[in-house]
Amino acid sequence: MSPSLFDCTFPYMQRRPSQNTPIEAGLADIGDNLQIPSLFDDASAASPPAATDATPPAAATNTNSETKTKRMASPAESHRGSLKEPHFLEVTDHRTGKTHMVPVEEDTIDAGIFAQLGLSIYDNGYLNTAVCRSSISYIDGDKGILRYRGYEIEDLAKHSSFLEVSYLLIFGDLPTREQLQVWETRVMRHTFIHENLVEYLKSFRYDAHPMGMVTSALSAMSTFHPEANTALQGEHIYEDETMVNKQIFRCLGKVPTLAACAYRHRIGRPYNTPSNELGYTENFLYMLDRLSENNYLPNAKLARALDVIFILHADHELNCSTAAMRQMTSTGVDPFICLSGAAAALYGPSHGGANEAALKMLEEIGSVENIPSFIEDVKAKKRRLMGFGHRVYKSYDPRAKILKNISEEVFAIMGRNNLIDIAVELERIALSDEYFIKRNLYPNVDFYSGIIYKAMGFPVCLDAKKPFPGFPTPFPTDFFPVLFCIARTSGWLAHWHEQLQNPIPIFRPKQAYEGPEPRKYVDISQRTELEKSPLDLQAKYLLRKNLPPMTDEELAKS
Ligand code: CMC
Repeated sequence: MSPSLFDCTFPYMQRRPSQNTPIEAGLADIGDNLQIPSLFDDASAASPPAATDATPPAAATNTNSETKTKRMASPAESHRGSLKEPHFLEVTDHRTGKTHMVPVEEDTIDAGIFAQLGLSIYDNGYLNTAVCRSSISYIDGDKGILRYRGYEIEDLAKHSSFLEVSYLLIFGDLPTREQLQVWETRVMRHTFIHENLVEYLKSFRYDAHPMGMVTSALSAMSTFHPEANTALQGEHIYEDETMVNKQIFRCLGKVPTLAACAYRHRIGRPYNTPSNELGYTENFLYMLDRLSENNYLPNAKLARALDVIFILHADHELNCSTAAMRQMTSTGVDPFICLSGAAAALYGPSHGGANEAALKMLEEIGSVENIPSFIEDVKAKKRRLMGFGHRVYKSYDPRAKILKNISEEVFAIMGRNNLIDIAVELERIALSDEYFIKRNLYPNVDFYSGIIYKAMGFPVCLDAKKPFPGFPTPFPTDFFPVLFCIARTSGWLAHWHEQLQNPIPIFRPKQAYEGPEPRKYVDISQRTELEKSPLDLQAKYLLRKNLPPMTDEELAKS
């Protein structure tokens, strides 16, 4: 049994750390030895602070309302300013001739009001539906702004560590030095995983995709912590903040270990046990690459680069995987299962896998001379420029700007990768081309992250300029989404924590039914329309004694 299974004694982490310091005085003397080397000491690496979002709500009719809704408390109010006057959307229902005044709050309208009119909002894929109120991260896609709890992403990337940012995301404020020390200590105490879980990971096939291993292991974690399982203990267990905090330590602590085991499995090396005297990201790199060295240390600058990349990927409001996290949380299931579901959503190539696609595209372009013809193909819609464009950002993704700077830092250590020259030139040409300008297409976070991961290889030895023979071995590209998953775990947990404080009823979206009208049951002996079935070919195959032999084409399809 893992020594860290039942040992949480951290009752002082309050739900609102700004009001209740989570630090117990007796723990404040933990050594202040965790210096964070900054890759971004050069002031030019940071963008100037972005303008605050103080746009007043759109002009609206101020009139007596037929329909009044209760004013909802909004976490966004603190930086958006409270709405003194009610605002309304005037809706005329031409079926009945009636006009309704729908209250507008925080740039949203209550969809429930339309239920009174017998209507649902059809929003295929939730493209314009707010399913919760949240105060974790804020995006202004037009201005290219990303903030965590009100702090600019540029400032956090420059000054903070990933664990510090995780604390901010989860508990709402940046920690004091003492809070940070306790936080780091608690998280790092939970890096070890149960030996049975190690055996479980070892049982995967030698070439198992690491994301498959990590999502499975996250869900298996649920079985290792029965006291945290709501199915066994009841949902009330998460009314206890100690219980909540302990799962946060566990998840943050163990995810890099699961990820490292998946990686070592993929390359056929024995798993490393964590080294808790190292920092969070350093320990992750240690577990990835240590062979038998007693004093193995990863390169500090590369560890810092990866730490910043983790900061940039930590949260991004209600993206697909975070929405999955919230959806699962609404069922009351334990956080390990929720994380497994969120990680599974991230696994999809349209979500966590785009950096790999961008990298492959750059490799395929091969050289700067081939860029113009590639751009012509993109404009002719024969290709997509991977790592460009974003559903939310209609200007430069602020994370991509920071990553571009990091890539230079990494190349300074690891040697220049020619893919960066292709990327920079591709960006230059695209940003001056009418096609991309007109459509607001800019580099997104995935444009540079893949190149950096590739260049990092194993950021392992103390002196990265004198690498081992064959060095650097790049991260296999199927490991990229796992790196994303480690970082995003902090955002997922922040949303889990927020939702425990402000529970949402179980998610139950509506559908717009467009299937058949009611019809009479047909006995199986009467059903003749086999050719309309999607299983037609297989069915024909099964029944082939009654049919002419299948053609080669039919056989191939079946
Ligand atoms: N290359 C070429 N044309 C593009 C691209 C692109 N990457 N993205 C959009 N367009 C064009 C698109 O063809 C359309 O043109 P038209 O008006 O002539 O039909 C127009 O721009 C609008 O496209 P859209 O598909 O409506 O835009 P969207 O906001 O729905 O798509 C996107 C967003 C991310 C799916 C898309 O830009 C894309 O596929 N990008 C490449 C894949 C990629 O890099 N994905 C990672 C996104 S960031 C991940 C994260 O934040 O976690």
